[in-house]
Amino acid sequence: MSADKMATTASANGAGPVNEGKDTLSPEDLSELLAAGTKEVHEKAENTQFVKDFLKGRIRKELFKLGAVALYYTYTAMEEEIERNKDHPHFAPLYFPTELHRREALARDLEYFYGPDWQSEVSCSPAAQRYVDRIHEVGQEDPVLLVSHAYTRYMGDLSGGQVLKKVAQRAMKLPPTGEGLEFYTFDGIHSAKEFKQLYRSRMNVLVLDEDTKKRLVAEAVKAFQFNMEVFDELEEIGKTIQEDVLDAGMPVHGAMGGDIS
Ligand code: HEM
Repeated sequence: MSADKMATTASANGAGPVNEGKDTLSPEDLSELLAAGTKEVHEKAENTQFVKDFLKGRIRKELFKLGAVALYYTYTAMEEEIERNKDHPHFAPLYFPTELHRREALARDLEYFYGPDWQSEVSCSPAAQRYVDRIHEVGQEDPVLLVSHAYTRYMGDLSGGQVLKKVAQRAMKLPPTGEGLEFYTFDGIHSAKEFKQLYRSRMNVLVLDEDTKKRLVAEAVKAFQFNMEVFDELEEIGKTIQEDVLDAGMPVHGAMGGDIS
């Protein structure tokens, strides 16, 4: 993907309108290394059973809620570490709290699903805890690697979010006003495509040696794997929940025709 036109929308750290990218990308640019280096694991993630079912509109509400819980713990950890490192030269250009941060949106979604007492109703699952532990480790001991975690989640959310939102809304008959799905709505971003270009250009201004770039790609692959472990865990939990409870009130087969592309 070409990032020759940089976004002119949001900006981090008080910078003015953004037009800071180069005209062309090179294969050594971090954005390109991350995209290429995670291509294979991205395909794997898309092909996990949980994700395939989700895309087909086979969404079990109890599992969807548990997925939101896992995301809540993940983003709480990530955004805590981002705040800690917001002035670190290896993260500062990627600090976009207003545009990107998801913890509060997820808290509102959980309140919608679990009620006002939601905090006492939810807990962090083992797979989400392993992901959370790694994010804290990275944020405190090797903060440059936080870039990989932010990239994996935020760029992914900006890429597939709208499709996933519509599928979930339809399958679970959630209100069209967006309750329960605030996670998927980025109020501060009017063009996901332009924002992703801006984010890529910001990744590419980080001053990093070749070895660090390699470590960043390896960490992004790890981040995908943590996500897949959460999906697999949800899939296993799904097997223990009765089908009629899970699919109450929604068509189970072929709800979305099985193909979003
Ligand atoms: C990018 C689809 C799951 C992380 C993309 C893009 C598409 C896509 C079409 C390209 C968007 C563009 O170039 O503008 C999907 C589908 C998924 C899925 C259909 C299955 C539901 C995931 C998961 C993750 C993820 C589970 C990680 C947690 C990413 C990232 C990018 C991306 C980081 C940005 C790639 C880059 O340009 O560097 N995805 N995705 N995706 N996705 Fe996914």
